[in-house]
Amino acid sequence: MKYILPTLSLVATAAAHGYVDTATIGGKQYTFYQPYQDPYMNPKVQRVSREIQGNGPVEDVTLADVQCGGYTAGGVSGSKPAALHADAAAGSEVTLNWTLWPDSHVGPLITYMARCPDTGCNDYMPGTAAVWFKIHEEGRSGTSNNWASNAIMKSPSVAKYTIPACLKPGYYLVRHETIALHSAYSYPGAQFYPGCHQLKVSGSGSTTPSSGLVAFPGAYKANDPGVTYDAYKAQTYTIPGPKVFTC
Ligand SMILES: *[C@@H]1O[C@H](CO)[C@@H](O)[C@H](O)[C@H]1NC(C)=O
Repeated sequence: MKYILPTLSLVATAAAHGYVDTATIGGKQYTFYQPYQDPYMNPKVQRVSREIQGNGPVEDVTLADVQCGGYTAGGVSGSKPAALHADAAAGSEVTLNWTLWPDSHVGPLITYMARCPDTGCNDYMPGTAAVWFKIHEEGRSGTSNNWASNAIMKSPSVAKYTIPACLKPGYYLVRHETIALHSAYSYPGAQFYPGCHQLKVSGSGSTTPSSGLVAFPGAYKANDPGVTYDAYKAQTYTIPGPKVFTC
């Protein structure tokens, strides 16, 4: 057995995954947190996105890491606030440019938001509070092999979401993810790739979503049909989490 373990871990490392590399928000281009460069920069680079620990997945839905990234197994539990916010108008579209995604890693694209304190998101950690509302989801087209993540498997590898037009202006944390389902037929197996960025939303809306809010961790369970799922079968896919908030 002792010869099998190193081989398996090598395979896991070789199967490179990814993260959101850059974004266009409010018509402006942003470089997101660069896990293989930013930790070594002096002075520290300020970003609108929260730090992630690499291009690997989170596989345990009960960990803080499922919120905005982290690597609890390596001693880094969850993420932490970023220094900056990106300005964006309510109702505008945001483009998230993923690193080119592996063809095998089929799954949904899902986006949540949470309102930050009026002082900003830059010292705000939601912890396990139910503060998140879902604003976007795309899954599988029926029983076909057309998955939302197919969009990030070719260049330009972009995912898009629209900031709800009715949102009250203020600071918001956005949690965007894909879930890779190629090994999700048993749990653990589904691979979560969450990342968070911070917005300063402008507009004339007055809505603060208050019902159906979820927590991360908490929103997903091991036995959710969207978390334990055989992607190799032609079967419909139920996206995990709450209903999408609409204005
Ligand atoms: C999108 O990300 C890729 C790297 O994954 C990068 O090469 C490319 O320049 C980015 N595109 C834009 C428009 O930022």
